[in-house]
Amino acid sequence: MNEVLKDKKPILLSGIQPSGHLALGNYVGAMRNWVQMQHDYLGIFMVVDMHAITVRQKPADLRNRCLSFAAQYLAAGVNPDDNVIFIQSHVPQHAELAWVLNCYTYLGELNRMTQFKDKSKRHDDNINAGLYSYPALMAADILLYQTDLVPVGADQKQHLELTRDIANRFNNTYSPTFKVPEPFIPKAGARIMSLQDIDKKMSKSDKNENNYISLLDPPDVLRRKIKRAVTDSAREITAESLTQPGIGNLLSIFAVLNELQPTEVVSRFEGQQYSGFKGELADSLVAFLEPFQDRYDKIMGDKSYLTSVLDEGAKRARYMASKTMSKVYRKIGFVPVGRS
Ligand code: TYM
Repeated sequence: MNEVLKDKKPILLSGIQPSGHLALGNYVGAMRNWVQMQHDYLGIFMVVDMHAITVRQKPADLRNRCLSFAAQYLAAGVNPDDNVIFIQSHVPQHAELAWVLNCYTYLGELNRMTQFKDKSKRHDDNINAGLYSYPALMAADILLYQTDLVPVGADQKQHLELTRDIANRFNNTYSPTFKVPEPFIPKAGARIMSLQDIDKKMSKSDKNENNYISLLDPPDVLRRKIKRAVTDSAREITAESLTQPGIGNLLSIFAVLNELQPTEVVSRFEGQQYSGFKGELADSLVAFLEPFQDRYDKIMGDKSYLTSVLDEGAKRARYMASKTMSKVYRKIGFVPVGRS
């Protein structure tokens, strides 16, 4: 058996949909914590392509984006030797368990999901059944691996709560089958806001690319986006700035990138003009993203390495997932293959 699978560390699991451009919000809200926590856990990190097709995707773009996102996980510092990195559709058990869990999820619960309501407004020409039952697939992603902790941004809290309810419902109906996972939502950076529409969260699939920072934006684009980021009409930083939309968001991004408390950032820049602070924020971003992009370019230049990481990850994941799946099928009364 593979060394990683013998590991008795608790399980940390998370995933990102390959839509749009991997954005600073995704890094700060999720990936940064994957990298920081990967030593204490066995990390399972997925590119969730099956979730992405709930919205229409161009096939060639989707294919490229899956590889690009996986390469960005690696460039961010996820270690493929100690963790399991894979593309969701390479592990068929996700679809199998999602179907079972659909039968343990109530319409009333799905009707309450705010992400479904938002997405149905944005894609009102394509409100499909997959978009609606998406939380059951997400629950399957998590419960398949007997996950302990799920590091996500604040917008995923509701899906995590539903996952816990489904797990408890199944366990109570039969007998303990799934570990009931805990969410990990960071204290700082759980909800990075859009740069222009400052009341909306930063989204990687926003149509207006000035709303988000892509992890692959070149330095001149990064500087331009920060310079144009919307702030209020005050001009200098004060103790109140942290609570202001716009400037407060930029201050919290600076805090996370420089591993400072938001109040420390305010003390450092108090009395200074927004423009000077924005210049320093852009410098911090460039200093962080340039080496990230160099690592990314190297990984993308070595497709056989990337393929081998993803193949190995999927192999490990299938092995782990198959154990849970046979337990589930046995509990619900399916006849095991080869027996009658
Ligand atoms: P997705 O692809 O929308 O986002 C990926 C991760 O990034 C976080 N995030 C943010 N954090 C802070 N500020 C923001 N503006 C921001 N925008 C996004 C998200 O909270 C998420 O952690 N359903 C999930 C993907 C998923 C998943 C899973 C996650 C599928 N299966 C199993 C965890 C475990 C989603 O759509 O994330």
